[in-house]
Amino acid sequence: MLRPNPKTMIYLDHAATSWPKPPEVMRAMAGFLESAGGNPGRSGHRLSIAAGRIVYEAREAVAGLLHAPDPLRVIFTQNATHALNIALHGLLSPGDRVVTSGMEHNAVMRPLRALEKRGVAVVVVPTAPDGTLNPVDFARAVMLGTRLVALNHASNVVGTIAPAAEVAQIAHAAGALLLIDAAQTAGVMPLDMQAMGIDLLAFTGHKGLHGPPGSGGLVLGEGVDAAQIRPLLQGGTGSRSEYEEQPEFLPDKFESGTPNGVGIAGLGAGIQWVMARGMEAIRAHEVALTRRLVAGLSEIPGVRLYGLADPQRRTAVVSFTVEGWRVSTIGLRLDEEHGVLCRVGLHCAPAAHRTIGTFPEGTVRFAPGPLTTLNEIDAVVDAVKQVVQS
Ligand code: ALA
Repeated sequence: MLRPNPKTMIYLDHAATSWPKPPEVMRAMAGFLESAGGNPGRSGHRLSIAAGRIVYEAREAVAGLLHAPDPLRVIFTQNATHALNIALHGLLSPGDRVVTSGMEHNAVMRPLRALEKRGVAVVVVPTAPDGTLNPVDFARAVMLGTRLVALNHASNVVGTIAPAAEVAQIAHAAGALLLIDAAQTAGVMPLDMQAMGIDLLAFTGHKGLHGPPGSGGLVLGEGVDAAQIRPLLQGGTGSRSEYEEQPEFLPDKFESGTPNGVGIAGLGAGIQWVMARGMEAIRAHEVALTRRLVAGLSEIPGVRLYGLADPQRRTAVVSFTVEGWRVSTIGLRLDEEHGVLCRVGLHCAPAAHRTIGTFPEGTVRFAPGPLTTLNEIDAVVDAVKQVVQS
């Protein structure tokens, strides 16, 4: 297979998965297999202990980055969807009420629609077409008796950032917990679970944290009683093996089966990479890229941009359509003629596309990353001009 050459393409699909991965991530993954190939937390031999240490260090890295209360409250999962399913299916029972927004990804909407069929009341609070949420509307919906508020921290379609700390206060005032879907924000902007009042946070490893696919997690805040959450899976944990019942302590309650040690090793290295670059520096760079991209695209006749104009209030995720053009044609021509790689369509978020008014065709989405340059953004704007003016 031909190795893709980053010099001959511009990768603008970081919201789907980041690429290329830092060499440190690939080294850590190969290193895990070469030097620490044992099963973490199972056997007592040196390779098992070495693997266990790598997994624990990654847990500490996640806790440090997200300001989680305790590394043991970091539960490793396959991805954000898996983490969201543990939280939603684990917490909600028939008769419970859950409030969410009109900007959610199917990772939240599909489990919620399944739970709705089993008697969970699902309330979807509409947002403005730019994805902004009105806290007054939200407060009205989150009445007493709501068990959970589930909220996308930033839209994977238009990047609009939700006021998570404000929503946490609203949720807590009503006695509800707040679950944040940080698939688009972990490693992309500073996050402090404790200061923001986030009770449960789902993240993926393969986007802003620059780890491999197959890594992610659910972090439980201090105020969350793990006894209230049913695990999705039961099985071997390497602990309390004399019992046939699932252990109640963390993280084992939710981590049955051999973990993805090689993926977790890569995730840990990805977080180290993010921390070495600096969360504030990454965010500042992506704000600058978004500003340039929005300014450039908005000058092209026929282009319609979605989301907020202010780059400080969004992540580096820019969606647009062009009058008279199919988004799939634009995406294909950008790839084939200009080496610009992006994602078009509905981005697994039909609710968000309904909100912004682009359902069912969807949008062209550009999602630059921390290594994208301003020159590349200029080249991409030029490429869009050439495609749509041809
Ligand atoms: N949810 C990911 C995206 O937005 C895969 O592309």
